[in-house]
Parts: sequence; C-alpha cells; structure tokens
Amino acid sequence: MAAENKKNKGKRKKNDDDNEIEPAAAQQQPSKKRNRKEIAIFGNYRHYYGYRVGQDMDEDPRLKVMKKEWFEGKDCLDIGCNSGLVTISIAKKFGCQSILGVDIDGARIEDANWTLRKIVRTNTHKMTSKSPGADAKLGIDFEKSTTKSPDEGTSGSPLLLEKDLLKIVSFEKGNFVQNWHPPANKYYHAILCLSVSKWIHLNWGDDGLITLFSRVWSLLQPGGVFILEPQPWSSYSKNRLVSETANANYKNIRIPPEDFQDVLLDKIGFRRVEDITSNLSGSKSGFNRPILAFWK
Ligand SMILES: C[S@@+](CC[C@H](N)C(=O)[O-])C[C@H]1O[C@@H](n2cnc3c(N)ncnc32)[C@H](O)[C@@H]1O
Repeated sequence: MAAENKKNKGKRKKNDDDNEIEPAAAQQQPSKKRNRKEIAIFGNYRHYYGYRVGQDMDEDPRLKVMKKEWFEGKDCLDIGCNSGLVTISIAKKFGCQSILGVDIDGARIEDANWTLRKIVRTNTHKMTSKSPGADAKLGIDFEKSTTKSPDEGTSGSPLLLEKDLLKIVSFEKGNFVQNWHPPANKYYHAILCLSVSKWIHLNWGDDGLITLFSRVWSLLQPGGVFILEPQPWSSYSKNRLVSETANANYKNIRIPPEDFQDVLLDKIGFRRVEDITSNLSGSKSGFNRPILAFWK
C-alpha cells in the first residue's frame, strides 16, 4: 500500500494515542496549572510515568512481556529513557550487566539520576530496617522486586544488588540520531526504543528514522535484540504542531509506522521479528501500542 494511503488511513478518528499531546493535563496538579499545556517537542514530558503507569499497577505492563534472557547478564541500551524508570526497572527485574539510558533532554537525565539515587537509598534503608511499603508514586513496587529469591537475580544478596545498581545503571544526555556516541568499541546485547520513534520521526523526518534504525543495527552485537514500541501513525497528526520543523517533516514522511517492520527486516538487515504485543495487557488507555523484538 502506498505510504500516502496508509497515512490517510491513520487520519480516521481521534485516537487514544492523542494522550501524548497533553500529558500535563493528565497529571494531578493545582487547578491553575492544569490548563497549561506542556510543550515537549521531543516527547520529553516531565512526570511521564505519572500518567503512563497507574497507581494500581505493580509495574509498567511492558515489563511483563519482556523476557529475562534478553537482558540477564547483558549490556543494554535504552534510547529515549526519559526519567529512567523503565531503565532502572529492567536492571532490577532482569539483572542486566549494565544498562545505559540516553535522552536528549538533560532535565530528564537529571530526574533519572535523582530517581536512581532515591531508589538505592530507599531500598537499602528498607532492607536494613525491614520497614514495609513500596514507593507507589514511582509506579513500581520496588519492595517486591528487591526481595526476590537469590536465584532470580544475578547478585545473590538483595543488599548487594542495591549497591550494584549504581554501577549497573547509568544515564547520559545525548541526541541518539545526531551527537551521541557510545564508548569506543562498545556493542550492546539489547537495545530498547520505547515510544520514541514518533518523536525522532517528527523532528528529523524519514532520514532521522533511518539513522535511528541503522545506528541501532551497528551498535548491536550479532544475535542481539532490538525492542521497538512504535507509536501509530494516527497519533502523529496532533503532535506535528509541536514545532514548524515537526509540521514540515510530518508532511514529507514516506515511511509510516506500519512499514517499520519491513524496513528493519528488508533494508536494515535484521534476521527475524517477534511481535510480543499479544502478551501485553493492562496498558493505560492511549498506550496500547505494538511491541516488536528484532534480532540481528
Ligand atoms: C514519550 S518518552 C518515552 C520514554 C520511555 N522510552 C518509555 O517509553 O517509557 C520519549 C523520550 O524520548 C526522548 N527523545 C526524543 N528524541 C530523542 C533523541 N533524538 N535522542 C534521545 N532521546 C530522545 C525524549 O526526550 C523523551 O524523554
């Protein structure tokens, strides 16, 4: 199907994915602030996880469909990590050897570092004082994830794991499609790109998208996995108004998200894909997006 037809197909109705246009309104804020729209031209929302992960959820539902063997003892990269909650959760739940979160917004990287230190402090304290509870606001039951049995993690003792977390998890500011460079000769076993492709697409067009995919390919170890959660085309239309550049790029996009799989397999060179969307349940309204795992 021609890209134009696919794009028109996406214009059919107001979609739940439009949530991403006004996240500030979805947050609990004083009434004065509630009407003020947050302009986040890169999808670099503050408090993203405050509306993405419900208070009633024990963890981000996306973590439930990811497999331990993709991450355990592996070097991992999280592109567009925002305030780092998924990055940190993956490290804790699956026992990565290392995980680096990269985000274009330095303020989100500061948030991520702050959150990381807070989690380490809180859990170290909890484990020494054995006080109950979890930091529900962070959307993750850290208590639960740190009290797993020793054979569930790479570190035998949960206390050790907490200390190690500061060595395992790190965050860096950078634009993945322009100026961010990994350490020399560094390759990753797993690379995540969750709800980021639309923002790269709108800001840097089809060229930016192809740069994203090619860079991911070249940074992956042979046999490594690329986990992609693309936003649907139907959600692009409102976000195009975040900037003139985004609006101009929007009009010229020729690779709609429905074609990403073919591009990654036929042009970039990934060997195979697994669609893990069907295992996903409990996502908040507006975040029912596909999740695809591609192997190099
Ligand atoms: C909607 S958030 C998704 C956060 C997280 N990946 C998740 O799904 O939980 C998109 C994030 O991608 C970041 N981002 C957008 N373009 C980027 C780029 N070129 N390089 C690095 N980060 C980028 C934004 O700053 C933002 O924090």
